[in-house]
Amino acid sequence: MTSIQIDSEGRLRHLITLEGLSEDRIIALLDRAAALRTSFREGAQGPQLLAGRTVVNLFFETSTRTRSSFELAARRLGAHVLNFDIAHSSTGKGESLEDTLSTLEAMQSAAFIVRHRENGMPARLAGHARRAAILNAGDGNHAHPTQGLLDALTIRDHHGGFDGLKVTLCGDILHSRVARSDVHVLRALGASEIRLCGPRALLPDPAAFSGCALFEDFDEALAGSHVLIMLRLQRERMQQALIGDEAEYFHRYGLTRDRLSRAADDALVMHPGPMNRGIEIADEVADGAQSAVLRQVANGVPVRMAALATLLEGR
Ligand code: NCD
Repeated sequence: MTSIQIDSEGRLRHLITLEGLSEDRIIALLDRAAALRTSFREGAQGPQLLAGRTVVNLFFETSTRTRSSFELAARRLGAHVLNFDIAHSSTGKGESLEDTLSTLEAMQSAAFIVRHRENGMPARLAGHARRAAILNAGDGNHAHPTQGLLDALTIRDHHGGFDGLKVTLCGDILHSRVARSDVHVLRALGASEIRLCGPRALLPDPAAFSGCALFEDFDEALAGSHVLIMLRLQRERMQQALIGDEAEYFHRYGLTRDRLSRAADDALVMHPGPMNRGIEIADEVADGAQSAVLRQVANGVPVRMAALATLLEGR
């Protein structure tokens, strides 16, 4: 099936969304990430698959993990990285993003990592790019494909697979691109149950998440879950104050040790970050033995190495 990201020969040319990617293609990316993780050890050089290539970080929204992780991934494969300085660029003089892309592409940039507050901006740039690959690093509440992949790798590392897994995502589902990409990858890999939980005002239209069960009661949702993915209240994306008191929110939706004991015994606790401790997750859980938060961060680098290597192969 061709799409903006897959060409007529079936090659992945851009990574915009996980929606519609086959199980085989996703497993190939995860396996490649796992192999790169093994071959790259601290201090050792990774395979120089991107030697001499240039990767540009185009971040129109703030980022801690994703931007540094893409930069390390590109460098560990031997690429040069340009962290494009948007605040001091001509976008402030009215230049369109398409023209900015063409300008940087003319300087032989092979890949662009794009984060933007508007849904669809990375896809728009992919439609405009002449030769370069576009990797979506998060657009609005639409998609965050590399986060979905690193979450899947972290779950696979711990549980061995997805068969029979009950996964609960809790928090601001409505505004979360992470939730959308996680749901796409979990469906493709065959998780048996996906539960979405949050206050009514932050739950999405069920039609947009077909096959997922919606819950307002967190204790009900987490009972027997093998994976708990906690999400931040994304106030910057809320049009109005959808949520009142944070203490009340923590009381209903905060993951505490007591609550965690209702989940499956070996349940994995995940959070894409940035975490708001004491709002969606208690310190004791964020730093506890079941927390995979830093394993998620660690897996982000090989996952992005795999994505970059796959997209730039033969280009
Ligand atoms: C998230 C993002 O920006 O989409 N963080 C991330 O990339 N790891 C989630 C968030 O902002 O809450």
